Amino acid sequence: MKVLVIGGAGYIGSHVCKALTLAGHEVTVFDNLSSGLRQNLLPSVKFFHGDILNIQSLDTACSGGSYSGLIHLAALKAAGESMLLPEKYARHNVVGTLQVMEAALKWNIPNFVFSSSAAVYGEPQYLPIDEKHPTVPENFYGHSKLAIEGYLNWYSKLKNLRYAALRYFNAAGYDPDGELVGLEQNPANLLPIIMEVAAGLRPKMQVFGNDYNTPDGTGIRDYVHVSDLANAHVAALEFLEKRQQSLTVNLGSEMGASVLEIIQAAQRVSGKTVTHEIVGRRPGDPAKLVASSALALELLAWKPLFSDVNSLVETTWKAYQKNLVN
Ligand code: WQD
Repeated sequence: MKVLVIGGAGYIGSHVCKALTLAGHEVTVFDNLSSGLRQNLLPSVKFFHGDILNIQSLDTACSGGSYSGLIHLAALKAAGESMLLPEKYARHNVVGTLQVMEAALKWNIPNFVFSSSAAVYGEPQYLPIDEKHPTVPENFYGHSKLAIEGYLNWYSKLKNLRYAALRYFNAAGYDPDGELVGLEQNPANLLPIIMEVAAGLRPKMQVFGNDYNTPDGTGIRDYVHVSDLANAHVAALEFLEKRQQSLTVNLGSEMGASVLEIIQAAQRVSGKTVTHEIVGRRPGDPAKLVASSALALELLAWKPLFSDVNSLVETTWKAYQKNLVN
């Protein structure tokens, strides 16, 4: 299939483009390079430099393509920031995505894969979280993702736009081949922050609370390797094309790991000390979030292959080392 990847120069986007290419699809990337990196673009992909808020740039990328699939990964994703600047997240995540959806209809792109998030669920009412779990987002970022899922559902009913909403849990890790090593700048997530300390790019990190009802008192999350996520995007796109129906699935490893477990793994893998201080809880953080990905296994035959803590930490450390050397 000919596939347009919106945000394909980003951390997740570049891994999705690699998985699409390896699966034999023809990939075109559209990215504003606000956080994506040109170095992440594989030589085989065509690139359009544009912004989803600029309709003309979207038309330019779509007009020449006759794409049968579009994967939309361009969004702001810092949950904390979304509570301070909801208007920024509404504009980029909601208005921006509505423009991408309108372009898909205008240019007859029938299969739409959307990067959603576990943040749509909010505080877990039971674990592991499956797709039937109530969706009551605790932050504006999660609300923006849930709102877009609602629009996708309406468009699928009214305009026959088939979609796959992929609810990521905690994306982490780097390309096991070591080909994609573009580091996220000013990371907000746990593993890259730990890696910056191990690499000497940051003096220390903070552990947000160690008084949770978990074995070591620190927060537990479901970390899923970005290459596993990428493979799920390929499977979802092919599902839409073959089965001609929409789907919404969780993408998680179903394995929980605590903050201290990740720190200990990083120290073991890197041989460095990760200096950290225990501080108070971060508002809105649940103690534990773990996915059920049974539906993704059933519908997409998807099973994570690289999402064990060791692989997540080892692939990330290798990416940091490559950047330190260069
Ligand atoms: C993980 C754990 C923190 C940083 C967020 C978004 C979510 C999704 C994934 C996109 C928690 C702890 C973290 C630090 C720490 N994004 N932590 N010190 O909050 O689970 O989810 O990213 O879809 O929508 O909300 O990820 O990496 O921020 O935190 O102790 O410096 O690490 O308390 O337990 P989170 P995170």
